[in-house]
Amino acid sequence: MLVQGRHYRTIWLDENNDRVVKIIDQRQLPHKFVVESLTTVRNIVQAIKDMHVRGAGLIGATAGYGMYLAALEAARNGFEKSLPDLAYEISTARPTAVNLAWAVNRQLAAIDGEATIDGKIAIARETAGQIANEDAAYCQAIGRHGIALIAAISKRKKGAVVNILTHCNAGWLAFTDYGTATAPIYQAHDAGIKVHVWVDETRPRNQGANLTAWELLNHGVPHTIIADNTGGHLMQNGMVDLVITGADRVTSTGDVANKIGTYLKALAAHDNNVPFYVALPSSTIDWQLADGKDIPIEERSAEEVKYIQGWQNNRPARVLIGPAASPAANYGFDVTPARLITGLITERGICLPTEAGLAALYPEKKK
Ligand code: MRU
Repeated sequence: MLVQGRHYRTIWLDENNDRVVKIIDQRQLPHKFVVESLTTVRNIVQAIKDMHVRGAGLIGATAGYGMYLAALEAARNGFEKSLPDLAYEISTARPTAVNLAWAVNRQLAAIDGEATIDGKIAIARETAGQIANEDAAYCQAIGRHGIALIAAISKRKKGAVVNILTHCNAGWLAFTDYGTATAPIYQAHDAGIKVHVWVDETRPRNQGANLTAWELLNHGVPHTIIADNTGGHLMQNGMVDLVITGADRVTSTGDVANKIGTYLKALAAHDNNVPFYVALPSSTIDWQLADGKDIPIEERSAEEVKYIQGWQNNRPARVLIGPAASPAANYGFDVTPARLITGLITERGICLPTEAGLAALYPEKKK
């Protein structure tokens, strides 16, 4: 996507040194656009853990490039012995997004098929690029399928503005390009369909207010930031036509783990007959899990809840918002049961959030 007129992806190899992975440090957005260089597996793990990069697709792509750096490191330290440890470190950097383990396992399988160490490094580099490219292509395809939903509502409303609510950031910053929940929105906007996006601020890290709003602003899409608790009121008053969120892990039966607060939006949407769609690439589907209750939920530092992060006098500011002595809990994700979801928008099309719905789109995954 464009940043000040220049095309960026969220992750790439340095054009002058292909042993350096470049990322956008998302902790600084929307106030500063900072590109960071990662050169070691330790850098990669830190970037994932501390959320310089985040979002299921980008976490997967970072893990893909991390495995390329791991192959380079392993070549210096006894390849067969050190690679599994490095792979483990990367795949356990965060627990909830299944794309992380998916990318590491894909790399391990690809590397395993090669005999020489130089060959393994070359394969890891190529596979990292493939993972990133596929992610972008899948997001574009999600946009092509999802735009039909927005176009149908626009037609029904005789061209009046379609109001879409989204939670967290499932935009291009959460993937390598385009995003998932935002891909249909960007495509609809570009096609001249009138859209307006309600952006949940998404406490505690404010990915909506910081990242989704920044993306939409850059692309010229009309939007409004709302406090997380606002969605129900808007839905009761007919101010939301459609909800689209992303996902961090989806079970084979259509249960969805996504940023904390998604479940409450699904409940409100269900109560008000507002269609609730989840957009995801197939790398986010955990074919081994059939019950959302089995999805591991990341618990993060209480500090993220107790302090609010912002920008003041041209520099980052951090403010305590409760009694310093009060404990706080920080569950990063929740699970929305399939019964509350209208449909899943994937790169292969839209399906019901059921085992049969997913199996019809991905017959090769059928047990
Ligand atoms: O904790 P984060 O910022 O990595 O959160 C994950 C997400 O980006 C959201 O849950 C998003 O809606 C999922 S789509 C990548």
